[in-house]
Amino acid sequence: MAATGSTAGAKAYYVSTPIYYVNDAPHLGHAYTTVAGDVLTRWHRQRGEKVWYLTGTDEHGQKIMRTAEANGVSPQEWCDRLVADAWKPLWEHLGIANDDFIRTTERRHTDRVREFVQALYDKGEIYPGGYEGPYCVGCEEYKLPGELLEGEGGEKLCPIHKRPVELLKEENYFFRLSEYGPRLLEHYEAHPEFIQPESARNEVVSFVRQGLTDLSISRSTFDWGIPVPWDERHVIYVWVDALLNYATAVGYGADAERFEGTFPADVHLVGKDILRFHAVIWPAMLMANGLPLPGKIAANGWLMVGGEKMSKSNLTGIKPQDLTSHFGVDAYRWYFLRAIAFGSDGSFSWEDFTARYTSELANDYGNLASRVAAMVGRYFGGTLPEAGTVGDAERALHEGLATAVAEADRRVGEELDFAGGIAAVFDFVKQVNGYLTEQEPWKVAKDTSPEARDRLATILYTAAESLRAIAVLLHPVMPSTSQALWESLGAAPALGELADQRVQDAGTWGRLPAGSTVTKGKVLFPRLEEPPA
Ligand code: ME8
Ligand code: MG
Repeated sequence: MAATGSTAGAKAYYVSTPIYYVNDAPHLGHAYTTVAGDVLTRWHRQRGEKVWYLTGTDEHGQKIMRTAEANGVSPQEWCDRLVADAWKPLWEHLGIANDDFIRTTERRHTDRVREFVQALYDKGEIYPGGYEGPYCVGCEEYKLPGELLEGEGGEKLCPIHKRPVELLKEENYFFRLSEYGPRLLEHYEAHPEFIQPESARNEVVSFVRQGLTDLSISRSTFDWGIPVPWDERHVIYVWVDALLNYATAVGYGADAERFEGTFPADVHLVGKDILRFHAVIWPAMLMANGLPLPGKIAANGWLMVGGEKMSKSNLTGIKPQDLTSHFGVDAYRWYFLRAIAFGSDGSFSWEDFTARYTSELANDYGNLASRVAAMVGRYFGGTLPEAGTVGDAERALHEGLATAVAEADRRVGEELDFAGGIAAVFDFVKQVNGYLTEQEPWKVAKDTSPEARDRLATILYTAAESLRAIAVLLHPVMPSTSQALWESLGAAPALGELADQRVQDAGTWGRLPAGSTVTKGKVLFPRLEEPPA
């Protein structure tokens, strides 16, 4: 995405998703985080900021190696196949506008990871030692005995994957994580916004207060990983490798100008399952190497199935395509952000999606757009009339719009409260519908006096201008329906491309000029077919 002139040189607003394990195809949970990041970055782009949005794949470690083995191919072949056939096509399908896609098997990553780890070793931050403990391959993480669950036969289970942990005993290298507790706590204290939401912050603070243990950062029992530079019998622990993607992808150790213009991330979006890695280990790694810390770690809740976290490992994943083929891509992007408070868990149901689609998208929003276009066609031959005398009803709408813009900008752009920001825009949609119901333009149209014509022009101009603003505000969330609306309003000749419209200017009244050619575009949200059985 091109930087605008005024912001060139400024640091980019940098947002990342987790890099996903390619042990299987993506499901709704992965798409949830990635769509949220996409909406956030599109919002900031439409503020006119320079933005960098990164996603990618995590390809090393035991989980990937075992999956590849089970499928009779090499790990690299497996990763290549999953990235090309499943992950990249999904992001394209969902309209994700990422600026880069990093794979941890790329040289631009592996070489720099070795340098980073070597630098820590040279500083004495890494030492050889031994460790024994329960390990969850699903999490790629040693677990504390106290956090395990008990299975039916008495076996110990991972609390996230609900699958047996393995007892691992290794001689490997350790990072002096335990020494970073006080500095981390100081940072959390000084930057209350560092971990979001509040519940996540509290969890991390109490975890760190209990005292940290040193982190095992290498493995010697298998070889699918990046070799430790000073001891090639070991590979680097997959999480240390993975976290560094946020640095290697933006030029760490390779392109100083790019690195300084992008790093650190303003927002790392993560699921709450991987919060500690991002809020504890990652900042400690950065401190150890004298690099700046990210602005915010924002943890989203889980999409649940039958009361459990939807997961690849437990084969409970629903494919996003199963929903987009029914509801469409834009409605899909909108639904999860609209229906679930960001940070809280939520579950998907066909009933809830269908109900919200029908009432909010099809009836409130879609009908508004088509009714207004139809009336401008019928009463003014498709040419947007000039507004006549503006009264209290119109002024109330101008104010409603100003409120929607301010609320949406603060909630989506700053607070990552997607549900609240989207709701603010849909409150305005409701207000415009209420305005039409009260003003009854279809009745005013029956009166052919000049005063009535003037009134009709005012009403329809007001409604169309409201839609102009709605198209801008919903563009980050639902890009293609906003684009269709923009075209139907004939906005481009006077106002330019929709993507160039600034969200913070969306409330400036009167931007859509009289004389614009309004056409009845395609139906934005068609009636739903019967859901698949
Ligand atoms: O953890 N609900 O990768 P991963 C909501 N490779 N979000 C979900 C979800 C659910 N049911 N399931 C997955 C890894 N996610 C590591 C990350 S980053 C340096 C390395 C989302 O494939 C959520 O964002 O297991 C979660 O954090 C991520 O997918 C985990 O994906
Ligand atoms: Mg996982």
